[in-house]
Amino acid sequence: MKRITTMTLLMVSLFATAQQETIDQKVNTLLKKMTIEEKIGQLNQYTGDNSATGPITINPNKQAEIKGGLVGSMLNVIGTTYTRKYQELAMQSRLKIPMLFGQDVIHGYKTTFPIPLAEAASWDLQAIELAARVAATEASASGIHWTFAPMVDIGRDPRWGRVMEGAGEDTYLGSKIAYARVKGFQGSKLGDLNSVMACVKHFAAYGAATGGRDYNSVDMSERMLFETYLPPFKAALDAGAATFMNSFNDLNGIPATGNVYLQRDILKGKWNFQGFVVSDWGSIGEMVAHGYAKDNKQAALAAITAGSDMDMESNAYRYNLADLVKENKVSIDLIDDAVRRILRKKFELGLFDDPYRYSDAKRAEKALNDPENRVAAREMAKKSIVLLKNENETLPLSKNLKTIAFIGPMVKEYKANMGFWAVELPEVDYNKWIVSQWDGFQNKVGKNTKLLYAKGCEVEGDNKSGFAEAVAIAQQADVVVLSIGERHDMSGEAKSRSDLHLPGVQEDLVKAIAATGKPVVVLINAGRPLIFNWTADNVPAVVYTWWLGTEAGNAIADVLFGDYNPSGKLPMTFPREVGQVPIYYNHFSTGRPPADENAKGYVSSYIDLKNSPKFPFGYGLSYTKFNYSGLKLSSVKMKRDEAIKVSFQLSNVGKVAGEEVVQLYLKDKFGSVVRPVLELKDFQKVKLNVGESKTIEFTIDKEKLSFYNNKLEWGPEAGDFELMIGTSSADSKLKSDFELVD
Ligand code: GLC
Repeated sequence: MKRITTMTLLMVSLFATAQQETIDQKVNTLLKKMTIEEKIGQLNQYTGDNSATGPITINPNKQAEIKGGLVGSMLNVIGTTYTRKYQELAMQSRLKIPMLFGQDVIHGYKTTFPIPLAEAASWDLQAIELAARVAATEASASGIHWTFAPMVDIGRDPRWGRVMEGAGEDTYLGSKIAYARVKGFQGSKLGDLNSVMACVKHFAAYGAATGGRDYNSVDMSERMLFETYLPPFKAALDAGAATFMNSFNDLNGIPATGNVYLQRDILKGKWNFQGFVVSDWGSIGEMVAHGYAKDNKQAALAAITAGSDMDMESNAYRYNLADLVKENKVSIDLIDDAVRRILRKKFELGLFDDPYRYSDAKRAEKALNDPENRVAAREMAKKSIVLLKNENETLPLSKNLKTIAFIGPMVKEYKANMGFWAVELPEVDYNKWIVSQWDGFQNKVGKNTKLLYAKGCEVEGDNKSGFAEAVAIAQQADVVVLSIGERHDMSGEAKSRSDLHLPGVQEDLVKAIAATGKPVVVLINAGRPLIFNWTADNVPAVVYTWWLGTEAGNAIADVLFGDYNPSGKLPMTFPREVGQVPIYYNHFSTGRPPADENAKGYVSSYIDLKNSPKFPFGYGLSYTKFNYSGLKLSSVKMKRDEAIKVSFQLSNVGKVAGEEVVQLYLKDKFGSVVRPVLELKDFQKVKLNVGESKTIEFTIDKEKLSFYNNKLEWGPEAGDFELMIGTSSADSKLKSDFELVD
């Protein structure tokens, strides 16, 4: 059997090589026929007219240019009708090269999943991959070949609104999620009808924008870049990502779009990336505003030299590359390399065989209304919810409560559950398609339960005139559920905030309702960590519900009424005040670390605030209780080529079944450069029934001990380590020391 398998593998790899050679041969044959204008056309991407995701320039000649073979790709063209219409224009061109249609399918297409930061809170890689798989199935049935996702930017600064699109602050968790998302989007292979090309963005270090202000400068050491910000990009590449997108920011003085070091030396050089790089919206032309290019022509020169293959919406390539070649400032080889990379993907997607293969109305009808997609969305949403506080067993609520008051500006919202970057389909009535939180409660409670509603206040503004009505219905209820937070457009691109407190008078509403003395549950819907200290300190139950998408109402009701035991863990640190930002768990010790959260004096602290976050990375409660015991190490010493097996018992000692995310952290006690106080190096999400125990195992190998030294060499250093197994980064359940010996 083994011999046959080897033979089969050999045959498959020969066929694949032969096929690949066929694609490369086809690319080269086509390239030879192309004029310089047609080559540059392949590097040119325009937006469609039914929605813009950046500053738009009106181009009356767009259709003529498409027919002239001068547009290789479009974005923001959705649906089988529109994609087919534009593709038909491209098929009138001399060489009939099909266009690529790209779209920001960030967390779902028609079935909207929780925002990526919420999905990250699930720590459930299978569920996250499935969410991307469903999104790809729906998008690819609607004419989309390519999603501008996953966004893998490490986000340590909640003032930056785009933390909602990523996987949070941790490199290890972010890398695992990046890999899962690419696998989900691209499926088993590109060219399958239910797969789309992934686009790993934003390359690179965009999340480290100074002050958390979007598009702002980034300045960091190479060591920080390689150790913290690049690994999720490399993980996505290892998953087979077809494309990358560069970022708006300048990095150490050079805009990413024109950054040879990033795109040629690292991505296409060291990492040997064979796909193509698309610029972010207008980012090539924006190098003039950066003060890096004196005009669009110099910007085009800088970008093509740096390895930006496709120009999204800046027209810099369209109007300058041909002259730059004629003036011998740009070698035709650079153009050809970029064109090859793009054409290769078009062949792999089967677009030359059938340019309309993804624009099939019948297939779309079925794919977009598959009930399984909503089941997946509800599962993902339930797993993304984080229980932050639950005193006096306020939760779960009984389904037979006599009266529940449901108060707040998010209760009857529909689109607010979708979050930023949701794909808006003109033909969809979202009030029917989305399950609001009010709908979810009505679907859940028994017929004897009376649900009362009051909005109380708006998300923003200082109008408290609705408080009286809200207090009045609270006084009639057995329990009050308050749903507050950010609207769907208050986190996301160009949504940086200087103040992270709950917007408007929402926390005043919480205080007014709490003053009734009724048991209160507060739901916080947001795209980022917010600050809500009074609520967190004075309300018995607080649940972070992010923006959960199409099935938000049902998922929240599942958790609040105990049909699902919450299992989410925070993927970002929650600050007490914005003055602490950036605040993240894997920080360096400093020479004067505070002994505890109240330590003052000559230590690294604030004189006016505790030294700890409000809620730490990896934190989240459950309706049950887990016990950690019996830690065993196979050895307390290891050599570089050895490994230590770690095991312990996890038991469910509570009253309901549940899932626990057990987290393995390591601390390298000293090194040739200072090392973080601890670092996440593994995790497992474990489901246990009441009374059930499981032996959990981790392996510590040299990869988990490795880091970049100040010569940028990757590897471990002999010395003392500590391992911590915990239920959060700040709650160690089991500890042990071990040593790496030379
Ligand atoms: C936007 C975003 C990017 C998105 C692109 C296309 O400006 O920065 O993430 O994919 O433009 O919409």
